Amino acid sequence: MTARLGGKGGGIMGKPNPQIANAVALAEKKFDLRTRRSREIHQRVQSMIPGGSPNGLFIDYPTPYPVYMDHGDGCWIWDADGNRYFDLVAGDWALPLGHRNPVVSSSIAAQLAKGTTWGGPDAELTFQVATLIQQRIPSMQRMRFTTSATEAVMQCMRLARTHTGRPKIAKMRGAFHGLYDIPLVGNGRYPDAGYAPPGLPDGTVQSTVLLEYNDSKNSVQAIDAEADKLAAVIVEPINATNGMIPATREFLQTLREATQRRGIVLIFDETVTFPVSDHGGQGLYGVTPDLTTLGKVVGGGLPLGVFGGREEIMNLVDPAIHAPNRPPVDHVSTFAGMPICLAASVATMQELTSDAHQHLQDLGEYLRQGVSALAAELQVPLQATGTGLLFGLHWTPNRVVDIQTARTSNRDALYALNRHMYNAGYYMFPKGIGIVSTPMQTADLDQFFAALEGAIVESGLRSV
Ligand SMILES: Cc1ncc(COP(=O)(O)O)c(C=O)c1O
Repeated sequence: MTARLGGKGGGIMGKPNPQIANAVALAEKKFDLRTRRSREIHQRVQSMIPGGSPNGLFIDYPTPYPVYMDHGDGCWIWDADGNRYFDLVAGDWALPLGHRNPVVSSSIAAQLAKGTTWGGPDAELTFQVATLIQQRIPSMQRMRFTTSATEAVMQCMRLARTHTGRPKIAKMRGAFHGLYDIPLVGNGRYPDAGYAPPGLPDGTVQSTVLLEYNDSKNSVQAIDAEADKLAAVIVEPINATNGMIPATREFLQTLREATQRRGIVLIFDETVTFPVSDHGGQGLYGVTPDLTTLGKVVGGGLPLGVFGGREEIMNLVDPAIHAPNRPPVDHVSTFAGMPICLAASVATMQELTSDAHQHLQDLGEYLRQGVSALAAELQVPLQATGTGLLFGLHWTPNRVVDIQTARTSNRDALYALNRHMYNAGYYMFPKGIGIVSTPMQTADLDQFFAALEGAIVESGLRSV
């Protein structure tokens, strides 16, 4: 099985470059030999599970089959063939403490011994999680739990519409906020960053306003033009899916002012950015939204999402305020905030101390600077963006500062690099985004740089 480059979901630079195609072919021969068991598993699974991946990850590039994983420990993960990888994926960025953190694991085990779910609130954990979240994100004056960030985003959009009585939601062109209807418009997984996939209810596209990330002037114009109809603006402080691109402070402040002026709800999707500081992305930037969504890290490796924010808006789900038991916004869910997930959440937030955050920040900076130094030395158009623990690799001569510049990155080249890095024992997303985790040390990253250099040289990407 070989990968096809340059097609849908592959390169965005037109036809595949023959040097890149060669680089991929070279890596895939070795990859094929190293991952025979994964290939066998894939053949067994794929007739029942499209793409072989039950959550859809690791298959949206020309990957012939995903690597099927077996177990993890700290910053390492092992596949079905017994290959060990340095894990820069960390559970789709959910595990900044790495796999099987002892405190998190024993907290889950202790809760498992008591039971996994009650169908109602837990005596201790509900209060503990809410308190720990509020200490980190004080703007979450009231909050509710979900099983995923997708649902948290969905709830915020309904809250915003109910609160304002307006129908539309503005999002950034190319941003991903999960699988609810409006976030799927222009979600960045397609060659056209504004593309709306099929299957959305009538009116979804018309209810969506696309803004340009880090473009204050055009965003304010669009917000002003749509103000009477606009319920909310949703934005990530650091755009994850397009390559961990930090917002400028000026952009977030401008969105804050423009939304406040027009009575529009500002939602920060902090699903990915929650661990960039002790106080999330909003603490880092000093900009306070009306509502916030959390996911991934907040669940400590188990499924948990959270939405919350200004009391006045969150009261819309409170049955005590909207008697008789009829809050205007429905929120009921079987598994939302299960005690087993809350136990993992408490342990994770307690383990993510200020020292841990500093370590992650230092590692992230070390990685970004090391990649830049290597790129300069090898004279290749590789660069690393990101903040704190988050990093994104881009293969483009343009400095990546927004989604448009990120989309000039040669994804085929990144894919070729990724295949070579797999063979060298590095587990990364094919499009080059990832996180560092607390079990890592700078010496591990020195090895990563050496492997990256090897991959660039061996693959022939130097001359692309
Ligand atoms: C910024 C952002 N928001 C929302 C989501 C959806 O999260 P979930 O997969 O928990 O529904 C994701 C998932 O990657 C995300 O990156």
